[in-house]
Amino acid sequence: MSSTVPFPGVKTYVDPDTYEDPTQAVHEFTKEIDPPRIRIERVIGAGEFGEVCSGRLRTPGKKEIAVAIKTLKGGYVEHQRRDFLREASIMGQFDHPNIIRLEGVVTKSRPVMIVVEYMENGSLDSFLRQHDGHFTVIQLVGMLRGIASGMKYLSDMGYIHRDLAARNTLVNSNLVCKVSDFGLSRVLEDDPEAAYTTTGGKIPIRWTAPEAIAYRKFSSASDAWSYGIVMWEVMSYGERPYWEMSNQDVSIMQNFSWMTKNMYIYLFLLKRF
Ligand code: ADE
Repeated sequence: MSSTVPFPGVKTYVDPDTYEDPTQAVHEFTKEIDPPRIRIERVIGAGEFGEVCSGRLRTPGKKEIAVAIKTLKGGYVEHQRRDFLREASIMGQFDHPNIIRLEGVVTKSRPVMIVVEYMENGSLDSFLRQHDGHFTVIQLVGMLRGIASGMKYLSDMGYIHRDLAARNTLVNSNLVCKVSDFGLSRVLEDDPEAAYTTTGGKIPIRWTAPEAIAYRKFSSASDAWSYGIVMWEVMSYGERPYWEMSNQDVSIMQNFSWMTKNMYIYLFLLKRF
């Protein structure tokens, strides 16, 4: 974790775990929503902590907006509630058109909820796979430009994402991409792509920079590596990075020179087609 302030005078990210009482961080960085303002419409997915629903949020004096609602299922223990709300404390500190926007939280009644802006086209990886070949290069690069802008903002705030991938990016009806899935170590527990390394860490190998895999040196530079993988995912309409090569082959290949790497990929593709 970076301990230097990237731009003195510019607001920087505060890790909710540095609060003695993480509930204090929730109070500080999020707004409590009065539950009658929320109308849940349907279930759209399942998260680690409970269902994800779509619905509407009313704000007095404002137009009703579409929202996604993450719920914490009943029977949770205190550390699960804390981990669940950690994501909201992080998201609530950000304000950028390419970062998913937190509308607020419900913590004073059950179920506990996190309410964010609704992204009509869902996650970027499945969206691209469903629309293979349908966009111009300008549109694809436009999506990438948005993600780059969001990641630049996170880097300026001193926040390291650690799990940037097309599956953790959401797309709205205007094709605007927004970075999502915050929560530090927890996001890796939740990510089906994350595998255990020889050092015991859980890491999405294909998206992670070699130095972060080898000795957990996560930084904005390792986020930039992941961004490079996302560029490849977007331009290939959601193909799997390194295709079906094993995680072990991917790691071995990353230590090759670029020329050997090219030969390796060439031989792999010859065998494949
Ligand atoms: N799935 C998870 N979060 C979402 C969001 N904000 N909008 C639409 N689908 C989602």
